[in-house]
Amino acid sequence: MPDEKIAVGPGDRVFVLTGAGVSAESGLKTFRDQGGLWEGYRVEDVATPEAWAADAAQVWRFYSERRRGARGAEPNAAHRALAELEEAMGERFFLCTQNVDDLHERAGSRRLVHMHGELFMSRCENSPVSPAVFGPACGRTPFRDEALYESAEAIARCACGGRIRPHIVWFGEIPLEMERIQQEIERSTVMLVVGTSGAVYPAANFVRWAGPRTRKYYIGPEKPMNAQAFTRLMLGNAGEVLPGLLKAASSQ
Ligand code: OAD
Repeated sequence: MPDEKIAVGPGDRVFVLTGAGVSAESGLKTFRDQGGLWEGYRVEDVATPEAWAADAAQVWRFYSERRRGARGAEPNAAHRALAELEEAMGERFFLCTQNVDDLHERAGSRRLVHMHGELFMSRCENSPVSPAVFGPACGRTPFRDEALYESAEAIARCACGGRIRPHIVWFGEIPLEMERIQQEIERSTVMLVVGTSGAVYPAANFVRWAGPRTRKYYIGPEKPMNAQAFTRLMLGNAGEVLPGLLKAASSQ
């Protein structure tokens, strides 16, 4: 990797978007490098409201496996470098992740949102966060949940009678925290996009929502699909590129 640095001064605000690639060096697989399959499952069988309605047990088997995998993973140098940049920049730093794992938090990130939900949270299927309400609306908010549900009988029920579902944004559902994300993008002067293929919207458009004064960098081993929208591509593994890049940035 050439000795590249990102200059971040006291007047800068940094917006970071991460995708599956930032967790790749922690041993968690990315999505689109597996021939269109997620760990052997078709997306439409496990990550859509239709899949939940048709076979909730299969959906929970998939997310239970993901819980098991994420539990055994550790944050890598890229997660740690982003947490260190936040430490140095305070509220001028904001992280939006598409990942549902908790590796950013475990590395120390605090100013972050999970736009596609969180693996270790669940909610009632009748909660108002769920766009398709299957029963009478339930006021229970999403809650921390590390349980594994591997059969239809094992799926927990809410007091309202609804089934407990993963707090994950499925295809066809609306990403979380979009208003806050949009505000943070608008006031950013530096955008770092790390380990995401630029194939899933709206995240793939964030780089276009940022104004012309925002410097936009992509960090990952291959060109993303929205490559032309960036100021600069820094091709390499996040765990190798980010620590040096951001050490330089935070000391300026
Ligand atoms: P993808 O699997 O589409 O892309 C992963 C990206 O990470 C690819 O561009 C790889 O080149 C890159 N990559 C691989 N190893 C890397 C490394 N060591 N360092 C940096 N980058 C690396 O995953 P996402 O773009 O995150 O949505 O996918 C976006 C969304 O699609 C996911 O959040 C998920 C999925 O459907 C939901 O679950 C709603």
